[in-house]
Amino acid sequence: MVFEELIAAYGDDASGLVVHNPANGAVVASVKTYSVDEAADIVDAAMEPMDAWARLTAKDRAAILRQWYELILASQEEIAQIITAESGKPLAEARGEVVYGASFIEWFAEEGKRLYGEVIPPPVLGKRILTLRQPVGLCAAITPWNFPIAMITRKVAPALAAGCAMICKPAEATPLTALFVERLAHQAGVPEAIFRVLPTHDPAAMGELFCTHPLIRKLSFTGSTRVGKILMKQSATTVKKVSMELGGNAPFIVFDDADIDAAVTGAMASRFRNAGQTCVCANRILVQSSVYDEFADKLTERVKALRVGDGADSETEIGPLISQAARDRVARLVDATIEVGATIRVGGPSAVGEAFYDPTVLTDVTPDMTIARTEIFGPVAPIIRFETEGEAIAVANDTPYGLAAYFYTNDLARSWRVLEALEYGMVGVNEGVISTEVAPFGGVKESGIGREGARAGIEEYTEIKYGLIGGLAA
Ligand code: SIN
Repeated sequence: MVFEELIAAYGDDASGLVVHNPANGAVVASVKTYSVDEAADIVDAAMEPMDAWARLTAKDRAAILRQWYELILASQEEIAQIITAESGKPLAEARGEVVYGASFIEWFAEEGKRLYGEVIPPPVLGKRILTLRQPVGLCAAITPWNFPIAMITRKVAPALAAGCAMICKPAEATPLTALFVERLAHQAGVPEAIFRVLPTHDPAAMGELFCTHPLIRKLSFTGSTRVGKILMKQSATTVKKVSMELGGNAPFIVFDDADIDAAVTGAMASRFRNAGQTCVCANRILVQSSVYDEFADKLTERVKALRVGDGADSETEIGPLISQAARDRVARLVDATIEVGATIRVGGPSAVGEAFYDPTVLTDVTPDMTIARTEIFGPVAPIIRFETEGEAIAVANDTPYGLAAYFYTNDLARSWRVLEALEYGMVGVNEGVISTEVAPFGGVKESGIGREGARAGIEEYTEIKYGLIGGLAA
């Protein structure tokens, strides 16, 4: 029912943005879009209500955010179905994403109450030094299709909790989830001008407006490193504060002292989550020589058992890729890898549908092959052999990316050594899934700037103001 209401409210615009179901190509909706001029008017209209929003107590804002969180959880099934219809994500994963997405709202509602300043001991008598954390102002977000709800709440909730307003351009593939979540925010009591979702036909122009508009004080982007660099350049014109969550090339290292079954389970979770379409997916699996065959055999068996199909089917574990173009790109990458000497153990082109690619395991992959240097964004696990710990670390760090890395070992000293040596923003030790609202998510090198989640995630939406009070009695 909610789905039909949503289509009636937002998804029936003849000249709108056409949303397709990647599982079968069917048109899901045609969504009303916003021009750059309309977005500029929305920016102007946000300024006054934002002042009022910032003047509320953090406790009052938290109560509204808490209500938003409750409404999202109460609509878990409906939101999951929308996510599956527009992104292809299997329903079980979509349900999980709703809970994950809501968790950011619950977390930041509370963190907003703890945006403490400091009183700093002065270096001379008769003065006092203090700091305040104040909202940065109007913020803009550009969000991806791979987590249609969680990548929005991870940005909007801290902004709102800190007293900012936010406008958000959702991915062209997945605007319906975004619009539904916006609707629930307004139902919960977030004033309309404080959070707006603006689907558009012209993402490049909208992005440029977000970067160059002087009233927008902060941009938060999740997407490719290529686009992130363009947005950073454009944002330089207004010296805008930016958070960038960009591409990755996550190594997943299995040492010979590891629990191999646990490592296989971790690799399955990390590599095949959302059909391999996450920035933190294990992109290259590095396995020490003496356990290489055992690991490859066990992983291949587990991959053979994965059920591929329409995400709406409750049995499905691997859904389609976001589009046929995405599937074709993955197919080209695998073909090129086989041509230069890799062996395909399972997988390859799928008979299920045009946007599907069967979960694939490749062995005899070497670190110089293109697949080991490219973000795959598909259900393909390339396995690379290594001999020593030093070699594994060198291969893992030999990339411009630095988002997530994983390794498996039962040696405590090695755990510390490798954790410290990996040039990544996030490291899973004997764990394949590390995302949670309570931990700082983000990368180093060309994988990004800033952190989302945790206390750091709300600090991104504040400025520190330093005050010096002089003329006090000595
Ligand atoms: C991403 O792929 O950008 C986000 C993944 C996550 O939050 O775990």
